[in-house]
Amino acid sequence: MMNANLKIVGTFLLCAMFSALVHAENAMISIETDNVSMIMGTDNKGELLFRHFGGRIGDISQFAGYKTYRRSDYGTDPLAYPAAGGRFFNEPALLAEYGNGHLNTELKYVSHKSIQVDGNVTRTEILLQDRVTSLRVLLVYTAYAKEDVIVCHTEITNGGKKPVLLKNYYSSSLPVMAGKYHLMHFYGSWAREMQVDTEPLSHGIKTIESKKGVRTTHTENPSFMLGLNADGFDENHGEVIAGALAWSGNFKISFQMDETDRVNILAGINPYASEYRLDKGKTFVTPEMIYTYSFAGTGQASRNLHDWARNYGCYDSSVMCPTLLNSWEGAYFDFNTKTLTDMIDDVRDMGLEMFVLDDGWFGNAYPRNDAKHGLGDWETNVAKLPEGIGYLVDYAHERGVKFGIWIEPEMVNPESELARKHPEWIVKSEGREVPTIRTQWLLDLSNPDVQDFVFGVFDRTMQLAPGIDYIKWDANRHVESFGSEYLERQNHFFVEYVQGFRNVLRRLREKYPEVIVQACASGGGRVEYGALKYFNEVWTSDNTEALSRVFIQYGTNMIYPACVTGSHVSAVPNHQTGNVTPLKFRFDVASAGRLGMELQPKDMTDDEKEFAKMAIASYKEYRDLVFGGDLYRLMSPYESGDHYALMYVSKDKKRAVVFAYCIKFQGRTLIPVIRLHGLDTCLKYSIRELNVKKSRFWGSGKVFGGDYLTSHGINPQLTKIYDSSVFYLEAEN
Ligand code: DGJ
Repeated sequence: MMNANLKIVGTFLLCAMFSALVHAENAMISIETDNVSMIMGTDNKGELLFRHFGGRIGDISQFAGYKTYRRSDYGTDPLAYPAAGGRFFNEPALLAEYGNGHLNTELKYVSHKSIQVDGNVTRTEILLQDRVTSLRVLLVYTAYAKEDVIVCHTEITNGGKKPVLLKNYYSSSLPVMAGKYHLMHFYGSWAREMQVDTEPLSHGIKTIESKKGVRTTHTENPSFMLGLNADGFDENHGEVIAGALAWSGNFKISFQMDETDRVNILAGINPYASEYRLDKGKTFVTPEMIYTYSFAGTGQASRNLHDWARNYGCYDSSVMCPTLLNSWEGAYFDFNTKTLTDMIDDVRDMGLEMFVLDDGWFGNAYPRNDAKHGLGDWETNVAKLPEGIGYLVDYAHERGVKFGIWIEPEMVNPESELARKHPEWIVKSEGREVPTIRTQWLLDLSNPDVQDFVFGVFDRTMQLAPGIDYIKWDANRHVESFGSEYLERQNHFFVEYVQGFRNVLRRLREKYPEVIVQACASGGGRVEYGALKYFNEVWTSDNTEALSRVFIQYGTNMIYPACVTGSHVSAVPNHQTGNVTPLKFRFDVASAGRLGMELQPKDMTDDEKEFAKMAIASYKEYRDLVFGGDLYRLMSPYESGDHYALMYVSKDKKRAVVFAYCIKFQGRTLIPVIRLHGLDTCLKYSIRELNVKKSRFWGSGKVFGGDYLTSHGINPQLTKIYDSSVFYLEAEN
């Protein structure tokens, strides 16, 4: 159950197999994965220059004497970590103000070393130092060979006597040279997360960022794909760089196309209102920026990131999060013990594996019967649940059902005992109105006392009954009118909030390594790899409507693997959009992620319950593919407009599951022929349609060659809007 990152550190310390320390002018450094090289080298002035990111190059000595023909009196060649100062004039990765008020830094290469952590992981550290001051910068690159992923972060140390103000302190700088650049990034809002935007880059700066502090990924996501040398994106062909930042707060990723047509990618903490004072002897460690390079389009880029995420980036992704019923859309705040035990019975009857009690179970002086009361007062509401949470947990466990519960520990309602007791814990700007969002305020996690409190909320909730299996951690507002009564320097608020959040999560994971924890922030407000170091999964969106989910899940799974994306079947008309879709379509869409339900089962007909049972049982047959298989997107809902299709293939290519959907009515004339990917063309596969009594696809029950499926494809009868099919493929022995 150990966190993958802890494993790496452990291995790193215990069995460093190879370590080389190089001090040299004209050093050449290669960071390599199975298929990719990142190459840097020093010039005769000792500057560390970026030479290559792309296909693997064996003999790096070929870069000796490399010339870009830049006029020597005009700027610098691409620096590995450009600082403001010297001849550099573009957006700097580092901008520091020294004790004397000066703002120039000129980083010079000092040394580097490479450590082979294990058979797959190599860590390269490059030490730079300012020519004049004692500011040191350690660039750290961790290369994951099999996944073709390179993770970068930076450690900035003030070796001088006076404090240094860090104004820009990005995680990484990546100069890229290509003929054309096409950017895909992800935008949205509540209930509309991870919509895909694509655009060609041109000269100037394109930035994606968040200044929201919390719920920081609702509007933009700290991730992207950059297609190179092409006019658009191809799912299966062409060169693509994908990047994702692991930071649960304000981020900024900018793409500056300079006058040489090079694009410089800066990624890291947003400098907005975050000038950071680095005291004498202190080191600031930036968040990690994750990069991969694909030579086979966006599809391979996603698969690389997913493999890395499952092997290293996400908290214990070996756990297959159970199928579940969440109480929120089925009961909201209106329930008693019987409502919940009935739901638990339905969980068991339909073959789901867990019941999750959402909001509304706590607060006595200010009972949590609506969103206006009780946040902060984490005692069980005795009027609603006189038998207590323990009774519900036992009731579930006796029926073979796991039990999960909701908390929102960073928040407080003005109408709560906590708000009265600890007004000093509330995020606010002195002397100004404290705005509410969803009638709640934010607690100041930069304050260690608040960190203890938040830790305690989780800890006490776990103590409500032995054996709580799952916690849903929600956060339903972002930061406004920011300020901290605790902090001496208000500029540190955004950074120290996230550091406080991480401290709490680190402590919790030490105490509760096995409990499954979901990151929810009004849906997809915390979908990023910083949170996923500690959380097993995310609540992808509050929008549970299946057509909207097609687009939300398509975008989210570009960067994040399906094993972390919770997706629920809910009632119709949908509570968010009012749309009415067939139950089968809702199941077939939700089953492409971590499947759950979120409705009142009592309102389902017997036929609907029968269908649910069938769909849940078939999901259990193939979910290991959704959780651990390779994702191939077969048709894009954006490009096709009529249909959407995807599949997951087992690593040994012997099993696969295909999902296909009709998302628009087109006169019953456009029947898609969907070519499958990722199969072994030499194998024969039986194909069986799931979630139907009788298949409408002529080929269901037959055996086809991998060559047929790959070169010709299947043509399921998807004619009406919301028709959908799920096919299970198994290789014949
Ligand atoms: C917002 C979440 O995204 C929902 O799933 C639900 O947990 C509500 N909060 C509860 O208040």
